[in-house]
Order: sequence, then structure tokens, then C-alpha cells
Amino acid sequence: MTLASLGTFYKQRIDYNEMKVAFKAWILLQLLGVCLAISDFHVGREIAAYSLDDHSDQLSEVEKALDRGSEGLQEFTPIRNTIKQTELQQYSFSVNTSTGLGAYYEFLIFITGNICDQPDDMLASGNQSLVVYYSFNASMFDNYELGTMVHFENGYFSALADVPISSGEDSILYIGVRAPESTNLTATWSYEIGVSQNDLVYQWDNRSFAQVVDTDDNSALIVTGNLSSKADSKISDFNTSLSNFQLFIYSYEDADHFKYLNSSWCAVRNGPALLSTNNFNTSYTTRGGALRQQFFVGGLNASTKYVGFLVSDFSGSKLGGAVYSKFEFETMSSSACSLIYDLEFCDEVAYSVPASSLDHLAERSSLAGIFDDRAKNLYANFSKALQQIACNTTMDAIYSPIRTCTDCARSYKNWLCSVTIPRCSTRNITGYVERQPNESRNTFITDEIVPPQNYFEVLPCVNVCQAIVRDCPSNFGFHCPRKNESIRLSYFWDIGAEYATCNFLGVPHAVKSGASRASTILWMVPIIIHFLWFI
Ligand SMILES: *[C@@H]1O[C@H](CO)[C@@H](O)[C@H](O)[C@H]1NC(C)=O
Ligand SMILES: *[C@@H]1O[C@H](CO)[C@@H](O)[C@H](O)[C@H]1NC(C)=O
Ligand SMILES: *[C@@H]1O[C@H](CO)[C@@H](O)[C@H](O)[C@H]1NC(C)=O
Ligand SMILES: *[C@@H]1O[C@H](CO)[C@@H](O)[C@H](O)[C@H]1NC(C)=O
Ligand SMILES: *[C@@H]1O[C@H](CO)[C@@H](O)[C@H](O)[C@H]1NC(C)=O
Ligand SMILES: *[C@@H]1O[C@H](CO)[C@@H](O)[C@H](O)[C@H]1NC(C)=O
Ligand SMILES: *[C@@H]1O[C@H](CO)[C@@H](O)[C@H](O)[C@H]1NC(C)=O
Ligand SMILES: *[C@@H]1O[C@H](CO)[C@@H](O)[C@H](O)[C@H]1NC(C)=O
Ligand SMILES: *[C@@H]1O[C@H](CO)[C@@H](O)[C@H](O)[C@H]1NC(C)=O
Ligand SMILES: *[C@@H]1O[C@H](CO)[C@@H](O)[C@H](O)[C@H]1NC(C)=O
Ligand SMILES: *[C@@H]1O[C@H](CO)[C@@H](O)[C@H](O)[C@H]1NC(C)=O
Ligand SMILES: *[C@@H]1O[C@H](CO)[C@@H](O)[C@H](O)[C@H]1NC(C)=O
Repeated sequence: MTLASLGTFYKQRIDYNEMKVAFKAWILLQLLGVCLAISDFHVGREIAAYSLDDHSDQLSEVEKALDRGSEGLQEFTPIRNTIKQTELQQYSFSVNTSTGLGAYYEFLIFITGNICDQPDDMLASGNQSLVVYYSFNASMFDNYELGTMVHFENGYFSALADVPISSGEDSILYIGVRAPESTNLTATWSYEIGVSQNDLVYQWDNRSFAQVVDTDDNSALIVTGNLSSKADSKISDFNTSLSNFQLFIYSYEDADHFKYLNSSWCAVRNGPALLSTNNFNTSYTTRGGALRQQFFVGGLNASTKYVGFLVSDFSGSKLGGAVYSKFEFETMSSSACSLIYDLEFCDEVAYSVPASSLDHLAERSSLAGIFDDRAKNLYANFSKALQQIACNTTMDAIYSPIRTCTDCARSYKNWLCSVTIPRCSTRNITGYVERQPNESRNTFITDEIVPPQNYFEVLPCVNVCQAIVRDCPSNFGFHCPRKNESIRLSYFWDIGAEYATCNFLGVPHAVKSGASRASTILWMVPIIIHFLWFI
């Protein structure tokens, strides 16, 4: 089995989740490394000497194995078991030569496992964990030295067994699991083990595939990474029943529980989670230009740190899955801000905004609605102006060969939404502006939202303004402040800190064209002046 042929196999299996494929390939490379290393040494050759010539032999081998108390494993059907200290448990798997990955004479078997739970005192040492042995020689159950040994690490183990060429039609893979010796005589581990001729039953990724969009004092909005392989994907293009992401929220104190189990899908799924997917409202979004699944997590406590894990189930909760690296977040300290998302007009808005002390705006959806309507009404004038510009004519007549009226309208909308719907925080961070309830950004917020208490405003990022200059016809005369002192009055920069130092709306993209055009525009024309009181 060459690397290239494995690569082809993985390409054929590419699904909606590019990242999953990438890490499958990565794990595969790791496994191949292990596999090649093993065959370079001793065990591989010894196993190849084992041969089963006819069916009766195989039956007797199975019987032998069963006599020894081994449990039969089925393709991609993991089993769960508990094991006490120093105990040994035995499994066997019959290779199916009419299916699977590999050429007719050389089959590959993926063996993976997760520790679901382990004794608390074992947390002190990651090395004192379960060990797995495997071999195609049933004598391994008498003498474990014959098998290949693999350690569980961070609650995970994987191995790639190469079915010996000489074993003919029928081979059986024997697997043993051994628990270490412990001073706690009742120490018990719980684990799952899965064998497949096609894929890894358990996987992990040390990257975080989830992102915390924003929080307020009692909720958080969390999104997955890009789920689509198409550049301009719509939610309707995506078969949402294919997504099997689950989100688990743990108390920060439980982070220790996962110190040595962070690569175990099973541990995350079966741990003492505060909240899990069923407690959230989940939907899909194309905010930011990528298709993502979003989870709205409610019922959190203020000023509290949480740990989140995103996992992907391969087929329901019983058939294995992948775990991504954990992420942490902290809720805001007061109810000064309220998290809104999925606005109809300002569709790129998903962040905390100043809350309202008015009863009819107590619901998130009402608060979102009043901000959204406000932005939509202000947009109407601009929309009329844009209609006067030739957009749908031939290429020469379009104001820029690269930018279209659609780009201009989108950039303008994002800018308008970011200045109409200020982002709110209870944190005092460089660049944030403290606001009193009676001194908000504009009279609309002061009079119609009526914030209940002081808050910090996260100013729009200056590149939200620069995007309009870049994307819109120069005869609109859009202009952004250019000196740092004047930028600071109404915008800020993303300085790459833990919390966003400015509020960005829209799809991030680096386009150099338009930069020169921007520098030639020195004066603002009425459209922008009309909105200047906002900023
Ligand atoms: C299994 O291993 C034992 C001990 O090394 C060896 O004697 C025996 O021949 C092996 N069986 C097969 C079928 O290879
Ligand atoms: C082997 O795999 C083929 C194809 O998936 C399947 O039809 C057959 O039932 C399998 N045989 C056994 C013994 O599981
Ligand atoms: C466990 O400890 C042994 C030596 O005591 C070492 O060889 C091995 O690499 C360790 N394994 C892990 C997973 O740390
Ligand atoms: C021993 O292990 C058991 C089961 O894992 C656990 O409930 C118990 O608390 C442990 N005892 C000590 C002293 O750690
Ligand atoms: C993930 O693991 C790989 C290989 O061990 C390493 O190169 C990479 O830096 C790790 N990534 C993260 C985010 O830890
Ligand atoms: C999402 O992934 C697709 C395919 O890899 C890519 O074309 C698209 O640009 C990505 N979107 C974002 C916002 O990264
Ligand atoms: C979506 O995927 C499910 C499960 O694979 C399938 O049954 C369904 O037909 C698919 N729907 C569409 C619209 O492709
Ligand atoms: C989910 O949405 C429903 C209806 O919009 C709402 O009643 C419920 O409170 C929401 N749940 C959470 C956790 O926000
Ligand atoms: C919030 O705090 C209360 C009291 O301390 C606690 O019982 C509850 O589990 C916490 N809930 C969350 C989601 O953190
Ligand atoms: C688990 O933690 C170890 C280091 O403690 C790290 O190397 C590994 O990548 C982590 N695994 C995941 C899935 O985050
Ligand atoms: C261009 O014309 C098409 C067809 O008349 C119309 O659907 C589209 O909205 C127009 N585009 C713009 C930016 O006006
Ligand atoms: C916010 O931080 C700045 C700089 O550290 C400080 O001058 C200001 O008083 C703080 N404001 C509040 C309300 O804590």
C-alpha cells in the first residue's frame, strides 16, 4: 500500500467538511509513520509468517479465540467496556476480503479507541493508562510480547494493521486491552474500541473548529468553521442533515477532567457537561462569507468562564466520531449588553448591542428588529443614489472592471449597519469608548433604546469604512479618515488581542485595486455627510 494510493482513497471520500478530510489525512500520515516504523523492526515480519489455509482452520482459530474469552468485533461497530486495574480483555475481528481498503492481497485495518472515563488519581500521570496489543497470531493471547503494543495518549489510540499477505482468504485480527497496575485496587477505566477496514472510527484534531462569535452576560453564540467546499455557498445548497456537529459546554473547573482525555470523543460526549446540543438553538449561517453551523447557548451565568468542545459524530451517538480542540470563553459581567444575531437586513450583524430598559425591547428579537429597521430605513436613500449609477451596462461603462454595484452596495450596507448598530461590551479594553445611557453614539440609541446602564462601545474597524471607498464609484466621494488621530474619533483597528478591539462586519478580503482611487478622493459629498452625525 503506497502513500499515493491511500491519498486517492481519501480524495474519493471527501465530504462537505474539508477540514475533517485534512485531519483524516494527517492521522493517516501519522499512522503510516507508525506502520512503516513497525515493519522496519520486528513484529511485522513475524506476523506475516502466520497463515490460515482453509476454512476449517479459520473456524478453529475463531473457536480458539472465543474459548479464550475474546469478543467479536464488527466492521465500524465500536464496543464499550470497563476494565479494572491489571485486567486484560480480548477481542477478535474477522477480516472481510471482499471489501475494504487495500489491494486484493494487502488489506489495511484501522484500529482506534477512546478512554471514556478513568480513575481520578490517574489524572496525575498520563502514562499510567491503558495499553492495546494486536496481532494476527492467536498465540498473542498467551504471550502478549507477540503483539504490537500501542499506548492510549490523551484518551486516544490508533493503529494501522497490515493483513499479512500469506494469510490468504481468512484472517483474524486479535486485540487485547490491558489496564495498568494501580495502588487503588478498585480503579476502573471505561473505554471504546472500534475496528474498520475503511476508516478511523475515532479521530481527533488539535485545531479548534469552533469560534465564539460574542457573548453577553447569559449567552454565547458559537459557530463551526467553514462547512462548504464551494466559494459562494448558500444554506440551501447544503444538505444540513449531513452535519453531525455537537457542542458541549463544561464548567471551567472541569477543564482538568480533560487534561489527559482531551483527544477522546467519548470522554467529551460522556463527561459532566453543563449544556449540550439539545439545550441550544442551532441553525446555519453564511455570515462572513462561509457556510457555518451556529449554536446559540443560553442560560449561562455572568462573569463566568466556560470550556467548550465541538465534536463530530459519524453516525449518531453510538458509532464513533471526532473531537476538536477545546475552546474557552467568559461571559460579560452585567446585563448592559444583549447578544443579537440573524438580522434580516443587517445580515452580517452578530454581536452584543446596548440592551434596552424598555419592556417592549426586552426580547432579543425585538431589540434586533428595531436596530435592523433603523438601518434599513437609512439605507433607502443610498439605494436610490446607487440606482443612478450604470451597473448593468457593458464592461467598459461599469465604473470599475473589478468592483460592481453589488460590491458597493454590500460594503455600504455593512458600514451602515456597523455605525447604526453599535457593538457593546462590559469590558474595558483599549479602543473601547465608555458610554453613559444618556450619551450614546446617537440620539436614536439614547431615546429609543434607552440603555439601562453604562457600557463600552466597540468602535467599527476602520477597514469597514475603507471597504466602501474601495468598492464604490468614485463619484460618490466616499472618504475615510486617514490620520490616526482622526480615525480614533470614530473607528479603531484590529490589533489582534484576545478580544476584538474593533467591530468588523463583512467578508474579509484583501484587494489592492481601489487603494489608489481612494487616495485621490479628498472631499466628502452629500451622501456621506448625510450620515456623518452617526460617527
Ligand atoms: C504464532 O506465534 C507463535 C509463537 O511465536 C509461533 O510459534 C506460531 O507459529 C505463530 N503462529 C502462526 C500461525 O504464525
Ligand atoms: C464482506 O463485505 C461485503 C461487502 O461489503 C458484504 O456483502 C459481506 O456480507 C461481508 N462479509 C461478511 C462475512 O461480513
Ligand atoms: C511511559 O513511560 C515509559 C517509560 O517509563 C516511556 O518509555 C513511554 O514513552 C511513556 N509513554 C507515554 C505515553 O508517555
Ligand atoms: C479508586 O477507583 C475508583 C473507581 O475508579 C474510585 O471510585 C475511587 O474513588 C478510587 N479510590 C481512590 C482512593 O482514589
Ligand atoms: C497539532 O499537532 C501538530 C503535529 O503534532 C503540530 O504540528 C501543530 O502545531 C499542532 N497544532 C496546534 C494548534 O496545536
Ligand atoms: C470556505 O471553503 C471553500 C472551499 O475550501 C472556499 O472556497 C471558501 O473561500 C471558504 N470560505 C471562507 C470564508 O474561507
Ligand atoms: C441529505 O442527506 C440525507 C442523508 O444522507 C439524504 O437522505 C437526503 O436525501 C439528502 N437530501 C438532499 C436534498 O440531498
Ligand atoms: C430557541 O428558540 C426558541 C424560539 O425562537 C426560544 O423560545 C428559545 O428560548 C430559544 N432557546 C434558547 C436556548 O435560546
Ligand atoms: C450558574 O450558577 C449556579 C449557582 O452557582 C449553578 O448552580 C449553575 O450550575 C450555573 N450554571 C451554569 C450554566 O454555569
Ligand atoms: C491534548 O493535549 C495535548 C497536550 O496536553 C496536545 O498535544 C493535544 O494536541 C491535545 N489534543 C487535542 C485534541 O486538542
Ligand atoms: C442587473 O439587471 C438584472 C436583470 O435586469 C437585475 O436582476 C439585477 O438586479 C441588476 N443588477 C443591479 C446591480 O442593478
Ligand atoms: C478603562 O480603562 C482606562 C485605562 O485603563 C481607565 O482610564 C478608565 O478609567 C477605565 N474606565 C472604567 C469605567 O473602568
